[in-house]
Amino acid sequence: MHRRNFIRLAGGGTIAAATGTLAACGVAGPHYPAEAVEAWQGPVGETEVRRRAVAYAITAPNPHNLQPWVVDLREDGVITLRTDRERVLPHTDPLGRQILIGHGAFLELLVLALAQQGAGSEVQLWPQGPLPEALTAWDDRPVARVTLQPAGQPDPLFAQVLQRRTPKSDFDTARPVAPEVLAALLASQRPGAPLQAGGTVDDARLGPLRALCWESAQVELLTPRTMMESIHLTRVGPSEILRHRDGISLNSPFVRAVAALGMFDRTAPPAEGSAAYESAMGRFEGHSRTAMGFVWIAGGNTRADQVQAGRAYARLQLRATALGVGMHPMSQALQEFAEMAPHYERVHQLVLGRPAPRSADDATVQMFCRIGYPQGEVPATPRRPLAQFVRA
Ligand SMILES: Cc1cc2nc3c(=O)[nH]c(=O)nc-3n(C[C@H](O)[C@H](O)[C@H](O)COP(=O)(O)O)c2cc1C
Repeated sequence: MHRRNFIRLAGGGTIAAATGTLAACGVAGPHYPAEAVEAWQGPVGETEVRRRAVAYAITAPNPHNLQPWVVDLREDGVITLRTDRERVLPHTDPLGRQILIGHGAFLELLVLALAQQGAGSEVQLWPQGPLPEALTAWDDRPVARVTLQPAGQPDPLFAQVLQRRTPKSDFDTARPVAPEVLAALLASQRPGAPLQAGGTVDDARLGPLRALCWESAQVELLTPRTMMESIHLTRVGPSEILRHRDGISLNSPFVRAVAALGMFDRTAPPAEGSAAYESAMGRFEGHSRTAMGFVWIAGGNTRADQVQAGRAYARLQLRATALGVGMHPMSQALQEFAEMAPHYERVHQLVLGRPAPRSADDATVQMFCRIGYPQGEVPATPRRPLAQFVRA
């Protein structure tokens, strides 16, 4: 019967009918199940300083919400951070660069949360040397060793940790981002930080950068193996979201209706013209078109630089949270797979005015994000339970 309604009311009425059916079954709205987002309440019931800090750090932004972190707390006064080698993106992130940016974001939140509890941190990156370039050669060596120190200075950005969200929605095109707001954002970096934050709200630059976002997104969506990587990580509806608590969580009535009707095929990229195809394309087109400014993090491209880029990005997004501005990474042009190469070159030309890097010492754009004002509430995304990250 659901299916008959869907087909008979083809067009706009289709969605309304399907949504109505789900609502009648008592399924909740687009928010994620409470248990899946419990991390956003902070370290409930945790008393140990390091465990409390880790409970904040797992809310860090990270690619495709894979949450690729493992922390070892077996040595007193030390937190050792490793990467979970199962949680990588070989097609869209073949060098693991974005995964390591997610580790940097985790480290920044960890340091902020330790400082808030009065503990300083000495962060040593790659204590046993950096991971090799090929993902397949990655081993168990630590990304960082954090040693607790006697005195930590709380940082006002800590107040934003549990409020931070990544808005994956169209921004309000009636609300420009003021140059002063951009300046305040870029001032979020630690003195002497090794990577630089930059940005623009200049009308003349927005057009080419929006076009870059949209055209590079089409490459990711139309390249079967990169599109399939996202599809495999998509969790639809409350029970799948609760089971995984990671990946790309979709819980809107429309997507749940399509899935409930058996029309969300996850075995192949969506066919051109299908509802899923139009929906994916429409989202990226809207995100690109409504970018009201851009910010980026640039510097070198060693493994240490990649982790440092994540620390810088976390601070930028926390400051955006304090200012009420939405910040949403548009990483497609930065992805190092062959079909993306022209856009990788173009993003470096448009942002830095120079060619794409040829070596790890060349200037590299590490993060590229649109900014603007979200038009509605942005939901917190799921996180796995704390125990799954900790080796104690
Ligand atoms: C290195 C990196 C790259 C990212 N690239 C994208 C992207 O291209 N598109 C996107 O929608 N989100 C991107 N994100 C944001 C993540 O999807 C987001 O952090 C994750 O889903 C968790 O959501 P939250 O930030 O709201 O907690 C990126 C995040 C990081 C750290």
